[in-house]
Formats: sequence, structure tokens, C-alpha cells
Amino acid sequence: MSLGKIIDKKYNDLSRRIDMQKVPEHIAIIMDGNGRWAAKKGLPRSFGHKSGVSVLKEILKASKKLGCKVLTVYAFSTENWTRPIEEVNYLINLFCEVLKNEIEEIHQESIKLKFIGDLTPFPENLKKIIYSSESLTKNNNTFLLNVCLNYGGRQEIVKVAKELALKSSSGEIKPSEVNEELFNSELLTQGIKDPELLIRTSGEKRISNFLLWQLAYSEIYISDVLWPDFNEFEFLKAIIDYQSRNRRFGGIESLPNESFEDSQYSS
Ligand code: FPP
Repeated sequence: MSLGKIIDKKYNDLSRRIDMQKVPEHIAIIMDGNGRWAAKKGLPRSFGHKSGVSVLKEILKASKKLGCKVLTVYAFSTENWTRPIEEVNYLINLFCEVLKNEIEEIHQESIKLKFIGDLTPFPENLKKIIYSSESLTKNNNTFLLNVCLNYGGRQEIVKVAKELALKSSSGEIKPSEVNEELFNSELLTQGIKDPELLIRTSGEKRISNFLLWQLAYSEIYISDVLWPDFNEFEFLKAIIDYQSRNRRFGGIESLPNESFEDSQYSS
């Protein structure tokens, strides 16, 4: 059998194992390992970021094909400003280029594009293309792609706390009315269901200030593969692993006729 056929067979075997009724609706991804991927090849870190873009396209297509509805990716964190200025500038230019080159296809695919984070510090040319991309795709309803830029989970929580404190001091709400629902309504992800699955590539086992509130009950899948080497095949492995999990949300497994004594060690 040729190598191509072996790969096709492995892919078909994996995709057959997916339960299409249990595909997560919202998947969050920490696309990590671009720099290490480039360094391993003796290339500048920028090559890793550039290669990461085509992987994102592949995973976006695969998510849509599986029936997933929302993908949220961590493209630039509040901490990423501490990188060398050349790398920060490279990433900003890359975001501009990718948006310019891909927005038509994104729109044709009926994908809504949303940017999450504080865009204030970015240059005007990037902000302009971000706003026009959001506006062009705002009525698309097949799929939502959230790109987190200058995003930090703690900063988001502090922002919500400030909004609620202001509303409380102006008398718009009472402190006793603050609850999870109200908190949710002030989040940058307001109106979007929390991710059922978080994928992080490159083997790192951290959340790194990503969606701290929203990931409270998400299943976490760590792939050892560096982001530029991640692909649809690895993505299917993550989905299969997720589908093997028993999501209990702090409760106990709800099996028919199962007594407390039977299940007390399973949490
Ligand atoms: C983390 O790898 C990756 C980033 C900080 C940038 C990710 C950006 C892309 C893949 C481009 C996406 C483009 C758009 C328009 C959304 P790292 O540099 O931290 O890798 P390392 O841990 O190996 O150093």
C-alpha cells in the first residue's frame, strides 16, 4: 500500500470513530509551539507563525465539516507584548495580511468573524481591517470564528467587575442582583456558549490566562504536537478523546439503576 493510501486509511478509520451527535459545539484552541517548531528547523520564529496560519485554516474547515459551530483561538495574549518588538510587529502584519487575503473566502463560507480582546493598542491599519471584516461577516450564521487578540482572562474578569461596580454605584443594579448570569452578560464572549473542549498544542499543560471564566467546565486536551504540525488528523484524535470523557459537571455519572454506593468512587 502506498504512503498516501495508508494515511487515507488511518484518516478514514479515525473519522469513522467520531460520534457526529456528540461533536462539541464550541472548541477553544491555544495554538502553541510556533517558535519551537521554527527553532527545530533552524528558522526564525516568524516562519512558525506563518506556517501556523495554514493549520488554522485546516482546523477551521475540519470543525465546520464535523458540525462544530464555534471556534475560539488564542492568537495574541496580553502577555505577548513582552516579546521582541520585531516579533510583535511581524505578528501584527501577519494578522493584517491574513485578513486581507482570506476575508472573502471566510465570508463566502458564511463564517462570522469576531475579535475578542482590547484592540486599542493595535495600529490603525489592523483595527480598520478588523472592523471591516467584522462588519462584512456580521450576519453570517453557519459558523463563528472568535480570534482572541490582546486578550487576557484576568483582564476580562476585572473589566466585568468594573462594569458591574459602575452599574451598582449608579443604582442601575443592586449588589444582591450580581450573579453568574449577570456576570456572563458583561463578558466579551457574551451570548456565546462556553467551550466544551479546550485544545492546547505543544505539550504545555497550562491555561495561560485564556478564557478563565468560560473554561470552568471544559474538557482539556493537550496535544504534544507543535501547532504548525497540528492537522485534521490530530484534531480528530482530540475529538475522539473528548467523546470518551464522562462529563459530570461536579455531579455523578447518571447511569440507570446506579446506586450512590456504586458510584461514589467515580467522581
Ligand atoms: C504561540 O506560539 C503562537 C502565537 C503567539 C501566535 C499564533 C498566531 C497564529 C497561528 C496566526 C493566526 C492568524 C490569525 C489571523 C488568527 P509561540 O510563539 O508561543 O511558540 P513557542 O511556545 O514555541 O515559542
